[in-house]
Amino acid sequence: MIKKCLFPAAGYGTRFLPATKAIPKEMLPVLTKPLLQYGVEEAISAGCDTMAIVTSKYKKAIEDHFDTNTDIEKSISGSSKEILLTEVNSMIEHCTFSYTRQVEMKGLGHAILTGQTLIGNEPFAVILADDLCDNIDVSVLSQMTSLHEKYPDCCIVAIEEIPEKDTNKYGVISGEKITDNIFRVNDMVEKPEPKDAPSNLAIIGRYILTPEIFEVIKTTKPGKGGEIQITDALMTLAKEGKVLAYKFDGKRFDCGSVDGFVEATNYFYNKG
Ligand code: G1P
Repeated sequence: MIKKCLFPAAGYGTRFLPATKAIPKEMLPVLTKPLLQYGVEEAISAGCDTMAIVTSKYKKAIEDHFDTNTDIEKSISGSSKEILLTEVNSMIEHCTFSYTRQVEMKGLGHAILTGQTLIGNEPFAVILADDLCDNIDVSVLSQMTSLHEKYPDCCIVAIEEIPEKDTNKYGVISGEKITDNIFRVNDMVEKPEPKDAPSNLAIIGRYILTPEIFEVIKTTKPGKGGEIQITDALMTLAKEGKVLAYKFDGKRFDCGSVDGFVEATNYFYNKG
């Protein structure tokens, strides 16, 4: 059973400046709920009860969000607004939130390695909160944890088909089809130009990783953009047949871009 979910949340969110000057990008709300809270909700739906968050010195608002605010609670107590805090308060009550700081921004692989101290030696999930996912019944992470039960020795990345021109925004995989929506990965490249992309199957921000990944990241050289890429670390394990890619059921919004953020906002507003 996967109990821990890692949230890399140290990045600057420069695409959303000036909004992200003082507010972490993970705290930007889609309607009234911060992106990160959607992520925690998804982790809980998949059976996780420990949220391991990799932050930085600019991200104190995240810790405050997943804690009590007695002044606000007192002021809305007994009013119709009380219900607005029910969900987050229940998260605080039922889950453990732990934090560690990433001091240097050296890429997603490095962020995940920074979280090792919170994860220890067990398989874990990773959610990138700016990939916001929705589904009809079973959450994307839940679909992946079920798959992990079948393939406990494998890492799993979520994938979706993207337009070929967009391959340079994602990690891109190719692999051998096991079923219609499961592939055994044999190649993965971080943000290739369309002409160099192994396919149009892009990794989105949901991963199940085995603890073996930590040692691999430690020996992974900086790749695209001079950063330590999780895609490159996973490629080492893919060579041993230990990485699966899963084409999930559901909708995903790229809330790391203004367009995707607006799309998500409209979608959740219309969903009611
Ligand atoms: C990261 C990963 C990339 C993946 C993407 C999903 O990139 O490096 O492989 O496709 O997340 O959102 P980022 O969007 O952080 O640049």
